[in-house]
Formats: sequence, structure tokens, C-alpha cells
Amino acid sequence: MTPEELVIKLIRRGINVSPEALELLRDLDEELLDRIVDRYSEVVVLEERHVKQFLESDESDVEPPALPSLPDEFVIERDPTNLGVEGKVDEFVRLMQYRFNKLREVLMERMHVEPLPIGMINGGNRKNGDKVVIIGMIMEKRYYQDRTIRVELDDDTGSTQVYFPYGNEVWEIVDRIPVDSVVAITGVITGNRVIGEKVHLPDVNGGERNRAEVPVKVALLSDIHIGSKYFNEKKFRKFLEWLSSDEANDVRYLIIGGDLIDGIGVYPNQEEELLIPDIYEQYKKAAELLQEIPDRVRVIYIPGNHEPVRQAEPQPKVPKKYVEPLLDALPDMIMLGNPAVFRVLGVRFYVYHGRSLNAVFKLVPGLQPVKPRTVVESMRWLIKLRHLAPIWGEHPISPESIDWLLIDEVPDVLHTGHVHVYGVGEYKGIRIVNSGTFEEETPYIRSLGIKVTVGKVPIVDLSNLEVKIKEF
Ligand SMILES: [Fe+2]
Ligand SMILES: [Fe+2]
Repeated sequence: MTPEELVIKLIRRGINVSPEALELLRDLDEELLDRIVDRYSEVVVLEERHVKQFLESDESDVEPPALPSLPDEFVIERDPTNLGVEGKVDEFVRLMQYRFNKLREVLMERMHVEPLPIGMINGGNRKNGDKVVIIGMIMEKRYYQDRTIRVELDDDTGSTQVYFPYGNEVWEIVDRIPVDSVVAITGVITGNRVIGEKVHLPDVNGGERNRAEVPVKVALLSDIHIGSKYFNEKKFRKFLEWLSSDEANDVRYLIIGGDLIDGIGVYPNQEEELLIPDIYEQYKKAAELLQEIPDRVRVIYIPGNHEPVRQAEPQPKVPKKYVEPLLDALPDMIMLGNPAVFRVLGVRFYVYHGRSLNAVFKLVPGLQPVKPRTVVESMRWLIKLRHLAPIWGEHPISPESIDWLLIDEVPDVLHTGHVHVYGVGEYKGIRIVNSGTFEEETPYIRSLGIKVTVGKVPIVDLSNLEVKIKEF
């Protein structure tokens, strides 16, 4: 690796390097280099003393931990790794182009049409009254006094304004579609604008979803918040007891969709809500509890916004240094980033912590208040828009080289958490589950007017995608 390549590699991981450190790193093999980068992933500038410290410590001799071997029935399809950006405007443009191109493909495939490039609407022999199909990203939505909606729609060739007069069915749909969505619009040319007649979302086709041949079950958890004063340990222990009982014999997997621990410094004054004000101690407590999980159950763990990893999505998996006690208790635990896509016995899971749901509740009309029905409805929107975080700018998203948050394959199960309200539903055969919480109402949640659902655990049967809620 040349020094330039080395610098780029480090910058991609968000690390600057001093010239002296660079000299030392040049001579190391890549595997050792990766371990140094992992070890110092949080320093702003990697200096000579860090590299020397590492090389002189025992850490450099220790073999990297072996990844748990995966059973044949478990296949990872997507796990955000090698993340990092340089903070240039181009990266944002690249991400939006990636998203637009993928979703345009989805729309074209579903509608079997070749859309007209927006830049050509007023070109050629086109005249008033001609019908057009265009695909673009909604950049802006405006409401006029008579409630007509004007949508500014962009593709890579140009921009146009599409008008949806109030009072018909398509208006109702457009009213609910959030900005940044990629849609297809059928409309009629009128002057230099388009009057919209129909609108199509990327969406999925109905049909048979994948199922396992055996009735293996998966328990879905999230938002346990160990370390918080409001964590309901009693109910959680009851769940763990049940998991070890004969009744739970066919539960073979347990997914933790983030917020396993409460973390520290997640929001101002959070320390006032902590029973365990130290992240390492929180993981120790988590290990003490989760060691009760029987051997037949494999745990899959992704981070949420309370885990000690970067807040911008996609998030990498939690660094090993925090979870060591947990890995001692559960050596077979599979740790992935957020979001993660994997198959269990052929059934495809999209697991996403669910931070974007806040924006969906806020910006899509009709989704208030947050309760089991609206949680499911907001998750249906994610599928219809084929994106886990469809609205830009409401929570941090990193413009990586690909869009990790796209729903580019059709899920069989979509699992989120974050809102602390469980919800179980279905959309075109896809099982939708939000896994609720084990944390009682916090002052923050109370201020949002949300009624949390504590200790309700959805259990999915992979042979028919049916869900039973176990209450503890
Ligand atoms: Fe949470
Ligand atoms: Fe969360």
C-alpha cells in the first residue's frame, strides 16, 4: 500500500494520521494495520505514540478473535462495514444519485414503462394535452390556498412542477407522500408544467414470501435499555426464564434490534436517568442477564442510537472492547451493523433500529398518535417507499458510497424498534414487527405523549411467518 492509499484508508475510517505514525504504519501488514485502526477508531489523530503503544503491548501478538462460525441456515446478506466519508458535497450527491437510480429501476420494473426524462418534457413534438410518465425525486411539496399541491420533481436531466388539484383520490395519496421519495407520475402536459393524474410508489409486488420448512421460531427484541433506572429487570428476567422453558423449545434465534443498553451521554441530562452510569458496567450487567439464554438460542445483535458507535446511519457493529463480557457469556453471538439483512432458514430479515420512524410519524399525515396501529402503518410506508430512512435531514445519515438503507430486496420480515411501542402487522405478505421495549416510561417519552408497551415480545414462526406476542 502506498502512503497515499494508507492515508485514504484511514480518512475513510475518520482518522487523521501524523507523518511519524504514517512512517511506522507503512511497514505493517494489512491485518495488523486493521487491528490498530479498530483499536484507535475513536482518536482524531493517530500519532506515533499510539502505534508504538500498540506494537509494544500484548495486543499485537494476540490473534484476532475468531468470528463465530455461522450455521448453514444463517446467511448474512448485508452488514455495513468499511464505512467512512470525507465530508465532501459530492458524497451527498453520489448517495442521492445511487438512491434515485436504484428506485427508478424498481419503478420501471414494476410498471414496465420507459419514463420520459424530465428535461425533455418541453422538447421534441410534445404539445399540450400529451400524456407523459416521469420518474423523479420529490424535492419540495407546496400547498396552495385552494389546497392544490405543487410537487417539484427532479431527475438527473432536469426539474418540473406537477400540480395535483384538490378533491380527487390521487390528491389524498400525494398529500401523504413525504419529500425525498422517488415516485412515478402519470400526467398531462399543460404549458410548461404537468397536471398529475396518477402517482406510483416503488412498493413491492404481492405474492408468496419465503418460509422455512420447519417450525423454528425467532424472538424479536429491542430497546431493553439496561443501565437505565426505568429498565424493568423483573419482566426481562421473566422473559429469560420463559426462554429456557420447554414451552420455548423451538425458539432458536433471538434478535436484538438495538438499544440493548442505555449508553451514556445520548441526550442532555441522560445521566439523571441512569442506574449504571458506566458503559462497560452496563455491558457487564447485560452479560450477567443474557448468560441465562440457553445454548439452543443464537443471539443476533445490532446497534441502535444508545449503543457506543457512531450515531450516523448506517452504523457499524459495536466495537469489541465494549462487548467483551457479552461475548464471554455468548461466544456464538452474531454482531452486525444497523441496518442488517440476513436469512434464517431462507427467510429474509431486514433489521433496522428504526430511528427514521420519528420522521415518518411527524411528516406523513394520519400517523399520530404513536400506537401499535400507527407503528405498523409507518413501517408499511418504509416498504412502499423501499427505503428504511426515506426522509433526509431528520436524523444523521452518512453519505456512504452505497445506500445501505435502501430496501432493494423484498424482505420476508421487517423488524424495527426505537419507538418503544410494539406493533405487529403485514403488508403484501411481508411480516412487519416492531419489538416494543423493556423500559418503563421515561420523562422524555412522557413528554412525547407516547404510551410505551413494556415486556411484550413478538415471536415469529418461520414456517408460516405468524407472530405470537408473549407478555411478561
Ligand atoms: Fe430505545
Ligand atoms: Fe432508539
